[in-house]
Amino acid sequence: MKALILAGGFGTRLRPLSCTRPKILFPIGNKPLIEWTLQKLSKFGVSEVIFAVNYRAEDIQKFCGNEKYGIKISYSYETSPMGTGGPIKLAEKILNLGEDEELLILNGDIFSDVDFGKLGDFHKNHSTMHDTVLTITLFEVEDPSRYGVVELDEIGKILRFVEKPKEKPVSRLINAGIYATNKKIFGYLKDGKHSIEKEVFPILAEKGLLYGFKHEGLWVDIGKIEDFMLANFKILEQVSNDKPQLAENVEINSKAKIIPPVIVGSNVKIDEKAKIGPYVVVGDDVLIGENCKIKNSILFGKSTINAGCKIKNSVLGEKVFLGKNVKVGKGCIIGDHAVLADNIKIAKKVTVCPYKEVEDSILKPKNVF
Ligand code: GTP
Repeated sequence: MKALILAGGFGTRLRPLSCTRPKILFPIGNKPLIEWTLQKLSKFGVSEVIFAVNYRAEDIQKFCGNEKYGIKISYSYETSPMGTGGPIKLAEKILNLGEDEELLILNGDIFSDVDFGKLGDFHKNHSTMHDTVLTITLFEVEDPSRYGVVELDEIGKILRFVEKPKEKPVSRLINAGIYATNKKIFGYLKDGKHSIEKEVFPILAEKGLLYGFKHEGLWVDIGKIEDFMLANFKILEQVSNDKPQLAENVEINSKAKIIPPVIVGSNVKIDEKAKIGPYVVVGDDVLIGENCKIKNSILFGKSTINAGCKIKNSVLGEKVFLGKNVKVGKGCIIGDHAVLADNIKIAKKVTVCPYKEVEDSILKPKNVF
């Protein structure tokens, strides 16, 4: 089985962290999202992956190369963004699917434990019996209004597909951004920029050619910062519920306190009386000074957090430098290489762009460009 991963989006909702990295390289529990996805694809016997890339394509190519976990990797390059339909059509030649060959299509920004094997089998059975062109993985959420919502019949046929419904949604089952399909899909896609969700799924549903495969389990679309944090918190609960997960060469002072769930990367030093946790991921090569307090936060790595800093419910990119006694309020996002001067206070919901130097306290929500 082959897989096409849509990985060309700008990730504007994850700015400023996405200014310096594509979404699929955002870390979940200290491992880039794409590694989780590729490992899972390999486990389910996928032998070839094609990345549909545009924004920061070179970062993706540098990280993934031409082979990972035994999967052959190639790239389909766009010169301008083509939405979610255009990149699939553009990749048709590279994919070179056989008559009965199945194809998985994944939104690259989904963190899930969807069973690709069962999804593939479901699609195969339904395409033999009902001529199904595409099977959408469905997930039930509390508030479906910001997703594609489906009306499903008892055999799994999608009767209606409505993208981001303005009126009362027909169900709470949403498009999970993971599809199984085959060669027939190319007949419904056009060249150039378009949205598969808005322009193709409603037509397939009308023709009775769209089916839904329900997934219950882990599913997070990391497209918003809260959801990116949630994906990390879910992994924290899985791997470190009652004991911190420590990588190699971690030095924790005996007077520091670690409150799980906490994941700590390699080459990290945590000084005296620091209090880390609960719900903290510390990336590789981070120094945390004495008396620091960090909770409900994600630190990407290579950062220096000097003595007496307090960080809560926030995300710090790579190579961030916090001077002494810096207080970072709830919901802050600090871009890569940012420098925050000694003794300053950053109010809640402040975002700091990469490489910015902040000399004075910021007392109201603000974007520092
Ligand atoms: P926002 O700017 O925050 O909305 O993020 P986004 O641009 O990634 O859009 P969205 O979250 O709707 O994208 C869903 C999936 O489609 C993600 O995996 C994106 O990487 C991918 N995607 C979105 N637009 C494009 C595009 O123009 N080309 C390719 N190849 N993928 C895209």
